[in-house]
Amino acid sequence: MSAPNKSYDPIEVEALKPEEIDRAREAALAAIAAAGDLDALREAKAAHAGATAPLALANREIGALPPQARAEAGKRVGAARGAVTRALAAREEELEAERDERMLVEEAVDVTLPYDRRPAGARHPLTTLSERIEDIFVAMGYEVAEGPEVEAEWFNFDALNMDLDHPARAESDTFFVAGSEGRDSGTVLRTHTSPVQIRSMLDREPPIYVICPGRVYRTDELDATHTPVFNQVELLAVDEGLTMADLKGTLDHMVQSLFGGEGMRTRLRPDYFPFTEPSAEMDMVCYVCRGASVGNPDRPCRTCSSEGWIELGGCGVVNPRVLTACGIDPERYSGFAFGFGIERMLMFRHNVRDMRDLIEADVRFTRPFGMEI
Ligand code: DAH
Repeated sequence: MSAPNKSYDPIEVEALKPEEIDRAREAALAAIAAAGDLDALREAKAAHAGATAPLALANREIGALPPQARAEAGKRVGAARGAVTRALAAREEELEAERDERMLVEEAVDVTLPYDRRPAGARHPLTTLSERIEDIFVAMGYEVAEGPEVEAEWFNFDALNMDLDHPARAESDTFFVAGSEGRDSGTVLRTHTSPVQIRSMLDREPPIYVICPGRVYRTDELDATHTPVFNQVELLAVDEGLTMADLKGTLDHMVQSLFGGEGMRTRLRPDYFPFTEPSAEMDMVCYVCRGASVGNPDRPCRTCSSEGWIELGGCGVVNPRVLTACGIDPERYSGFAFGFGIERMLMFRHNVRDMRDLIEADVRFTRPFGMEI
């Protein structure tokens, strides 16, 4: 900027000459008119209407003119800048309208086109139910434990006090992967989740509280109530002073958490399992009629066949021989365990009539369960 003129000499400031102002105005208007889109217009605006544009610089020179020349120069610069501002606004409006028009065409969506996105699947109810059961026990401090599905016979049978002549070992029930050779035990597809009890006891020191979900295999034909692959949940607690009463309280808590509190409880009926002593079959109150259908022909219950109870699975106090096989002193520690099938529970919990629906992976079956997380 030139220095303020105090001498009143009529000096001419180059930038303020009328022809310079005209030239700057014409250049600005030409650039604005030539801008083909909003980006180009933004550039034209910076070059011709920004703080360093020729007209802005000229404006700053006005102070350098003698006072009598300032008004006229001011008017001239002001008019030129006004013209540029108006041209910018008008061109911007035009370009915006053009852009909107183009977007309407280019980004138009044909809502009548066929739907080609794959529908979202749903988690399988076996997974969600199994996780729900795990959560109940994790909340009580249990740990989730897992084991291999191809299992050594020793873990699947021997360590669980199932002798060589135990009927479950027979080929009619068990998928054998490899026979026993020399002193090594054979390999089977595990027939239950109970071998995870053994693995848990060998891996940990008491107190032990584990919940073991997993897939198990038996040589059953696939039909409405059997499948050669199914899921079980196994629970094991080993601590000082554990009794059958702790098992009963744990089972009651589980069915109350799964089926809603009021009146939900379990009962134990004497049974036999080689790995528990005493052993029991566990039933839960029918969660539909809660026992009200028993001896009441006016209120029959399809879920429990009006028996009031639904069979869940097996349980008991861990056999001291099993503790010993795992290096745990049965004089000091005791434990309880249970195991049951998830498919069966899912079937009565959701009125699934055919077990094959659970394994066919048909999304029409799983989708209604999709709301459950
Ligand atoms: N493993 C048994 C089965 O598959 C079920 C079972 C019974 C598990 C008693 C247990 C138990 O933990 O204590 O038939």
